[in-house]
Amino acid sequence: MSILEVQNLNVEFKVHDGVVKAVDNVSFSVAKGEVLGIVGESGSGKSQTVLAIMGLLANNGKINGSVKFMGQELSKLSYKELNKIRGNKLSIIFQDPMTSLNPYLTIESQMTEVLMLHKGMSKKDALVECIKMLDVVKISEANKRITLYPHELSGGMRQRVMIAISLLCKPELLIADEPTTALDVTVQAQILELIRELKTEFNMGVIMITHDMGVVANLCDRVNVMYAGRLMESGTINDIFYDAKHPYTRALLASIPSLVEDVERLSTIPGEPPNLMSLPSGCAFQSRCQNVHKECMDGEIILQNLGDERFTKCNLDFSRS
Ligand SMILES: Nc1ncnc2c1ncn2[C@@H]1O[C@H](COP(=O)(O)OP(=O)(O)OP(=O)(O)O)[C@@H](O)[C@H]1O
Ligand SMILES: [Mg+2]
Repeated sequence: MSILEVQNLNVEFKVHDGVVKAVDNVSFSVAKGEVLGIVGESGSGKSQTVLAIMGLLANNGKINGSVKFMGQELSKLSYKELNKIRGNKLSIIFQDPMTSLNPYLTIESQMTEVLMLHKGMSKKDALVECIKMLDVVKISEANKRITLYPHELSGGMRQRVMIAISLLCKPELLIADEPTTALDVTVQAQILELIRELKTEFNMGVIMITHDMGVVANLCDRVNVMYAGRLMESGTINDIFYDAKHPYTRALLASIPSLVEDVERLSTIPGEPPNLMSLPSGCAFQSRCQNVHKECMDGEIILQNLGDERFTKCNLDFSRS
């Protein structure tokens, strides 16, 4: 069963000299207990996709399309109605916990507030639950640490606190936007392991945005590959790692450092992504694609359905490959 269904999602930003098309007709779903990865170069629309889902776009942003969460159309809800769902059944964690935690409040007051607000708990009961949740995210001496201010904790600890906050109400869907990028490698690995364990424990759906294909391989069930605001390819981990179709996906995979190969052979994708204010007609990847041909430069690019939730937006013929 899908807990999230996104259909024909578009996000546009009005800027002084035009309109930035940050997300272009994106459709996908997430099932209960499933981890969906979203990958793509910087600026490809990963964050704006999830911010649109959460109703957290910047003021100059406009959303179009349908976002159904547990059967409810989120884009039609009022701010107040949305706030009942956010931080409750639908949670998000960002890259930098310092921007999400209030530096002037103790961890205790920031955490207990969530349960008092969403679950109507007393401060005393909320405190018990919060300490339990800090235990779950493996913060030792939680009853002491909960009295501290964010700056008194290390970066890894703060991210654990953020994860604990996002899990307090046992969300159906956790969205993590590059949750470990700001952390050192060892702490990164611990946090990812934690998300994996918690996903199993709470059977929640997870959307994991990452630059790191290693994270995708370790954690995700399925992957969406984004480029210039468009969903270029989607499939299971096996589909994407062993049978990628889209030339962009293949180029992206070729740019991962391999553990077995010489790092010097690492390739980056030549060229630049297109300007989102004046996208070319046809395929957004045409100027960088090694397989580009005439039909790619004009008209609608075919969305090829290659199986169950497996598709690619490319004109190449994959039927014989
Ligand atoms: N408020 C805004 N006004 C105008 N353009 C914006 C605004 N917010 C985001 N954008 C543009 O939308 C595009 C998509 O941005 P997004 O943040 O989704 O990228 P991303 O894939 O998350 O990249 P990164 O990997 O760097 O986080 C970018 O070109 C960005 O500049
Ligand atoms: Mg981003």
